[in-house]
Amino acid sequence: MGKDVIIACDFAGKKEALAFLDKFTEEKPFVKIGMELFYAEGPEIVREIKARGHKIFLDLKLHDIPNTVKKSMEVLSRLDVDMCNLHAAGTSAMMTAAIEGLTREDGTRPLLIAVTQLTSTSQERMTDEILIDKPIDEVVMSYARTARDAGLDGVVCSPLEAGKVHDTCGREFLTVTPGVRFADGDIGDQVRVTTPERAKEIGSDYIVVGRPITAAVDPVAAYRRCVKEFIG
Ligand code: C5P
Repeated sequence: MGKDVIIACDFAGKKEALAFLDKFTEEKPFVKIGMELFYAEGPEIVREIKARGHKIFLDLKLHDIPNTVKKSMEVLSRLDVDMCNLHAAGTSAMMTAAIEGLTREDGTRPLLIAVTQLTSTSQERMTDEILIDKPIDEVVMSYARTARDAGLDGVVCSPLEAGKVHDTCGREFLTVTPGVRFADGDIGDQVRVTTPERAKEIGSDYIVVGRPITAAVDPVAAYRRCVKEFIG
């Protein structure tokens, strides 16, 4: 466990994903496989990327009744991923069941990370549609505490929230942070962004970087720049 750059492999299919990873001849980056690639290719894409020597964050954001999540996590633990996630909104009963399902017979398990409030959810929508009548950062910190108390390893959050999550939940509680851009790069559709260097200063444990690497003219150089800025 430790600081690392995770590349968001947001590709439509196996051909594109593997062609991208083929560019990395010297290093084996930590890779995030999201719903798009997983639903297109199934568990085989996880096995194939794992067999190539990459660590894998399987970003499927589970959210269902505790028994269903437990059984699904059992399946994911057999896929030998290194990190997976769920929605903290499923409550502590679901999170505890998830840990039970994820834990292998030998006691090991992938890291389990909670999504608090999606960064696409605004204060207004949360209040009007989900009927949560509290400031959103208070909600995020409360979900983070519940996740920690249920035994999870950390949360997905904005790098700008990483310091506050650590203050609330402890330094050991992991912050996995998307929304990272180079100082001279395109922001795209992200809103609250920061640079790898600043994410390091604030205390992110893992940064998740997609398009600044996948859409770069030289993705390997962009990845190395991220590692240099974030890890040093
Ligand atoms: O291309 P970009 O660097 O914006 O990719 C960020 C990745 O992190 C995407 O896979 C996106 O789905 C994911 N993500 C995010 N914000 C969240 C949770 C996940 O950007 N709150």
